[in-house]
Amino acid sequence: MEKREQTIEYFEGKDLPSVEYRELCKKAQEVLPDAYSIYSGFSVGAALLLENGEVITGTNQENAASPSGMCAERTALFYAGSRFPQVRVKALAIAAADRNGPVKAYVSPCGACRQVMAESIRRGGDFDVILCGEERSILLKASALLPFPFKM
Ligand code: THU
Repeated sequence: MEKREQTIEYFEGKDLPSVEYRELCKKAQEVLPDAYSIYSGFSVGAALLLENGEVITGTNQENAASPSGMCAERTALFYAGSRFPQVRVKALAIAAADRNGPVKAYVSPCGACRQVMAESIRRGGDFDVILCGEERSILLKASALLPFPFKM
């Protein structure tokens, strides 16, 4: 066997590169009060920018039967896939708050959301992901979040 390596590129800092992306983070933060997170106390907001200019937002929706709940990112991605099946995703911003308010660092999407992002890449190509933090954010490609995604 031969040794192979994969590296990922990402940007980290206080300022995002465009007004469009700053606005997208703001939208992800604005929907946080709509999260239904009574069990965990952890609210997540997602704002998805589509190539046609539409912004789809989503929040986590928990359930007493916990596996029946849904993450913010997948809520937004599935809605976009249902409502605009032919439109490519341009960027996804993710923000979060705990019981003390907005989280200072960024929050990174769970494995299941990464697999769903991989499906969006397959449908329409790679897109930007912004992990929005109060103090600093991360900008990277969706493909960088999940090496070796499941495919069939
Ligand atoms: N959550 C998300 O909405 N997105 C993620 O990527 C990870 C976790 C939600 C699920 C649950 O409602 C709460 O955060 C705590 O796990």
